[in-house]
Amino acid sequence: MIDIKQLQNQRILVTGSAGFIGFHLTKALLALGSHVIGIDNLNDYYDPALKQARLDELEKFHSSLSVSTQNRQREEPTKNRHCEEHSDAAIQNSDEGTEKEPVIPAQAGIRPASETLPQYQFIKMDLADRTAIESLFKTHEFDIVVNLAAQAGVRYSLENPHAYVDSNLIGFVNILEGCRHAKVGHLVYASSSSVYGMNVKQPFSTADRVDYPISLYAATKKANELMAHTYSHLYGLPTTGLRFFTVYGPWGRPDMAYFKFTKAILAGKAIDVYNHGQMKRDFTYIDDIVDGILRVMNKPPQLDTVIPVPTPVIPAPTPVIPAQAGIQASPQNSHCEKHSDVAIQSSPKSRHCEEHSDAAIQSNLTSNKITNAEAPYKIYNIGNNQPVTLRHFITAIENACGKKAIENSLPMQAGDVPITYADIDGLMADTGFKPSTTIDEGIERFMSWYTEHYAHTKSQA
Ligand SMILES: NC(=O)c1ccc[n+]([C@@H]2O[C@H](COP(=O)([O-])OP(=O)(O)OC[C@H]3O[C@@H](n4cnc5c(N)ncnc54)[C@H](O)[C@@H]3O)[C@@H](O)[C@H]2O)c1
Repeated sequence: MIDIKQLQNQRILVTGSAGFIGFHLTKALLALGSHVIGIDNLNDYYDPALKQARLDELEKFHSSLSVSTQNRQREEPTKNRHCEEHSDAAIQNSDEGTEKEPVIPAQAGIRPASETLPQYQFIKMDLADRTAIESLFKTHEFDIVVNLAAQAGVRYSLENPHAYVDSNLIGFVNILEGCRHAKVGHLVYASSSSVYGMNVKQPFSTADRVDYPISLYAATKKANELMAHTYSHLYGLPTTGLRFFTVYGPWGRPDMAYFKFTKAILAGKAIDVYNHGQMKRDFTYIDDIVDGILRVMNKPPQLDTVIPVPTPVIPAPTPVIPAQAGIQASPQNSHCEKHSDVAIQSSPKSRHCEEHSDAAIQSNLTSNKITNAEAPYKIYNIGNNQPVTLRHFITAIENACGKKAIENSLPMQAGDVPITYADIDGLMADTGFKPSTTIDEGIERFMSWYTEHYAHTKSQA
């Protein structure tokens, strides 16, 4: 269905490339033969030595690829390594013939595959630095941008809200502006399962209302989705938001529970178990996440995407009636702004507002439509679709450590949610995504990396 080999020779910007997901994605893209520029500000929200170690690993990996490419070229001197017509992707497409792959910018002939962009380069840069981001987009052309840089973490947003505003809001506008002016083919960006807040309907679906965030972190992620929609609508920028569900695995984040638990259990220290271990999470293994991102990158949304009617989950707050609130009920208040007298006067259309005629409203309702805004815009959940309790997760870690945990059983924390459970039907249907790593396998792999990495490193998580 989706052939990720089409990402070969694509010019890609990965923000947050020294972070957990950005590191793994960059590595996978290099293996596919994409040209990657990675940026990150290497902040100290968690140990910057781990971020530097990921960058060192990427440099090593890139060098090993360059050596093997040179060796291959020596063995096959006549083959044109940059000939699009004879690339693996092109050959596969012509063989298949039946299914039409999504057109991605380089294939559409807008720009040739990059000879100018290096295969891999890391640049230390802050998303919130507007001048730096503007100049990045002026000096490099990108086919696809994957924005993973953000201030992550729910609990820290209670402590340091400004970090979230700087990176997740100001930084995100800078990326949107860069993509808009440079006419980037597709912006894929990280959202989060946190946007579902305390929604009670399970599993969480992208058709559900997400208007009640319970942390500033979640509010910034929801804001990113709204901002992306605006740019998709106004400027035709294809954007896809991915709501990640608790990602774990090797090279993971020391601020996350599984990482802290491992460190404490191995050291014989007690672990804090919130909500007495009854919280459920849709833990998703990093390789499955990367596979999903690659599939999505290859499938920019089309303009006519239908935005489904959100299922009401939480009763809406009682509406404030203007007269009660001391506001004069005016005829203008009862009309949509787009079709106010001022708007109608300035528009040659709509003396008889077709969009809001009875017939149109009726047909929009039956066609599952809530808006006439058209935008190449998509949101997907990306999770394992199999939530497990924290208790189960702790047992998997204990098994991998070969040691029992000492537990401090605690109540639920502010800003936390009791369960996350992803409905991934949309992503499966559109891209063929199918997560396959079990918790036990994933934790085993994390443990092998953890013990090896920290055996060779002085710093501890
Ligand atoms: N890991 C998860 O379980 C999870 C779940 C939901 C959403 N997400 C989202 O996915 C994305 C990646 O998460 P991750 O787990 O890799 O987190 P991470 O913290 O490991 O990676 C984010 C990276 O972004 C960098 N960064 C932060 N602010 C920046 C700025 N202003 N300029 C440049 N770089 C900046 C950080 O230094 C870090 O290396 C984030 O947007 C996060 O909110 C992650």
